[in-house]
Parts: sequence; C-alpha cells; structure tokens
Amino acid sequence: SRRRLLGTAGAVGAAGLVVGGAGGALAAEAVRETPAELTGVGAKAVPFHGKHQSGIADSAQAHGHLLAFDLASGADRRSAAALLRRWSATAAELMAGEAPKGDDTGIALDAGPSSLTVTFGFGRTFFDRTGLASKRPAALEPLPAFTGDALDAKRGEGDLWVQIGADDPLVAFHALRVLQKQAGDAARPRWQMNGFNRAPGATAKPMTGRNLMGQIDGTNNPKPSDPDFAARVFVPDDSGDWMAGGSYAVVRRIRMLLDSWDHLSLERQEKVIGRRKSDGAPLSGGTETTPVDLNKFGADGSLAIAGDAHVRVAAPESNRGAAMLRRAFSFHDGYRDDGAPDAGLLFVAWQADPRRGFVPVQRKLDRGDGLSRFLSHESSGLFAVPGGCAPGEYVGQRLLE
Ligand code: HEM
Repeated sequence: SRRRLLGTAGAVGAAGLVVGGAGGALAAEAVRETPAELTGVGAKAVPFHGKHQSGIADSAQAHGHLLAFDLASGADRRSAAALLRRWSATAAELMAGEAPKGDDTGIALDAGPSSLTVTFGFGRTFFDRTGLASKRPAALEPLPAFTGDALDAKRGEGDLWVQIGADDPLVAFHALRVLQKQAGDAARPRWQMNGFNRAPGATAKPMTGRNLMGQIDGTNNPKPSDPDFAARVFVPDDSGDWMAGGSYAVVRRIRMLLDSWDHLSLERQEKVIGRRKSDGAPLSGGTETTPVDLNKFGADGSLAIAGDAHVRVAAPESNRGAAMLRRAFSFHDGYRDDGAPDAGLLFVAWQADPRRGFVPVQRKLDRGDGLSRFLSHESSGLFAVPGGCAPGEYVGQRLLE
C-alpha cells in the first residue's frame, strides 16, 4: 500500500517520488497512486465523461495549452478513430489524477488532477482526410476574412484540435506530452500555444479574472444558470446529428498592442471598453454585475457607454442576440523585433453555431469598435467539438464508428 511505501524510510519521498531502493513493481505502483492526503488546488477533479466535453462550461484554469494536429498522410477514418479512442481513455485517466497506463514520464507524479480538462475537436480539413466530407457540419464553413486580420496560416486551423487546461503547470504539460506521444504515427503537431490565467487562491475571494490590458474580463459571459445557456453554447440534443451536445470553438491568437494601449489615460481606457478598470463596473453605473444600460445618457448629454465602446458593439443587443461563451487564456511569448511584448489573448469562444455567434459579432467589432485599434488577430481556427462520451466510449465515436 501507499502507506507502507511511505513508511519505508528512504524508499519513497514524502510526495510519493521513488528516490531509490524500491523495486520496479513498487515503483510502478507508486507512480499510479494519487496522494490520498491532497487538499486544495491539486485535489480538484473535473469529470471526463458526460453529456458535454469538459473545458467549456467549467472555469478556465491557470495554465492552458492549445494545439492542433494534422493527420499523417495515409491516415484514414479507422486510424483517426483509434487515435480518438486512445486519447479519450488517456484523458479520462489523467483527469482522474491517475498516471496513464503503460510508459509514463512521471512529470505529474505527486500531483492530483488539479482541475485538468482535455477537450478534442475536429477542423474542416479532418473530414476530407477521413472520407467523411458528407458529414462535415455546415457550421464549419470557413470564417470570413476581417479587415483587421493579420493571420499566420501555419499557426491556424488543423485537422484535430486539443485544448488542455490545469491549475498546475506540470499537470498541464504532462497531459500535453502524453497525448502528443500517443498521436504516434497517426498525427503530428501543427501548432501549439501556451496561455495562463490567474492562479486559484491568488485573490482574497474568487473573482472574475483580468487580461493583460488589466481589465476584468468575462463578466457578461453567458452563465450555466442562465435559461438560454445551453441554447447559446451547445448544439441541440434534438438536432439528430453527431454534433448533438457539442459546441463550436473559435480560436484566435489576438496580440494586444500594449505599448499604444498603455499610453492611453485611464479615462480613455475605460471609455474604450465601457467599464471601469478597477472593479469592472459598467460606465452606466452600479457594480461589476449590474446589467449594462446601453441607453443611459450622462449629465452632459452624451452616452454613458460610448458608441464605439467594446461592450456596446459586442453585446447581444447590438447583434440580434448573437452570443458566445468566452473562455480565454492570456499569452506572453517574449518580445518582438520592435521591442513590443508579444502578448495578448488566446481567445476561445464557444457557441452552438459560429454563424450566429462569433461571426456577426466580430464583423461588427471589425467595423468600428474602439478596442480593435489596439489588437492584431494573428491566427485563427474553427473546430467542431463533439459532445461528451460515456465510460467505454470515445469522443467523436458517433462520427467515426
Ligand atoms: C466583453 C475585452 C476580444 C466579444 C469584454 C469585456 C472586456 C473585453 C474587458 C468586458 C467584460 C466582460 O463582459 O467580459 C476583450 C479583449 C479582447 C476582446 C481584451 C481581445 C484581446 C473580443 C472578441 C469578441 C469579444 C474578438 C468577439 C468576436 C465580447 C463580448 C462581450 C465582451 C460578447 C460581452 C458584451 C456584453 O454583453 O456586455 N471584452 N475582448 N471580445 N467581449 Fe471582448
């Protein structure tokens, strides 16, 4: 037992790491065990199995890896199905805090699941590669070009997409490494991006996170308790197609032009968004969670929330109800040749149909939102993320079997 292992002085370190003396069988046993005494951040587990995949409606973790794979030439529907079966089984183990069966690297030894989530999606090209073009959802039609786009095709799209999030960076990297190794000969990485959010416990009470412009970001997201949450985020159950219970992810690497942004006065920065920086309260009054009043005028007769304020232009009320769930990670990849930080938002937007979510909203933002002048969209991907699976099944089974 683990207790015995820990009791064998010198054989196993306090956190379960084998430091010598223990035989191979004991070492393997130690590797498979989740430390029973874990509390706090490491102990939290998100279920892998369920109606929807994880990593969508649950809150974004402190560390994220987004990556896309392209299927190897010669790959077909059967090899893709085998890969999704392998990946699903492993994701279920890792999310439960268990080491993967077979060869493990030991990177996440000692740690609990740490809210790990692994989410799988299919890009447009996947369906051609696997002879499944007739099953490609209409909602996967390419996103339109926007005037503010400066997209790097090499860092965009891809046959398969994997989103990994965890509150511990070693747990997140471990999942990334295990899944990449398991891709084997079937698929190879196309691009990968790393992001972060505030660490759990960093603030006195749980709060909406901040982005790298310093704003409280995520306040007016659809909430799982909203009556229309499922309709906005998930493909309806009665759609009868393999995407029932799934969602569409729009992934954009949005660099922030931080040097220009930081030159704005606080007042200008707040006007650009339409919310106060300190506490996220709308400029129409109240606290962070007070509904935004887009029709309120100030004493001077001007709109409290400016005509080009980001929250006005992006709001469902301004876009015939178009809405999405934003679940982003910040990124910082060092400095560019011009000295500017290569930093911003790995924007991930979830919706039942991007043609009624991201596309109309981004069209409007692109035409005249005060924030867009401080952003550069540098890569883009659109992925069909199927519903979750039951134990014994794998993600995408209804498409691939
Ligand atoms: C709201 C920042 C890009 C859609 C907000 C808010 C902030 C913000 C601070 C107010 C707080 C909140 O309700 O979450 C940013 C930054 C971006 C960015 C820094 C880029 C780096 C986008 C993009 C879209 C978008 C590309 C969609 C195409 C929205 C929506 C809201 C929102 C729908 C809520 C509006 C409402 O109903 O009040 N954003 N945003 N944002 N943003 Fe963005």
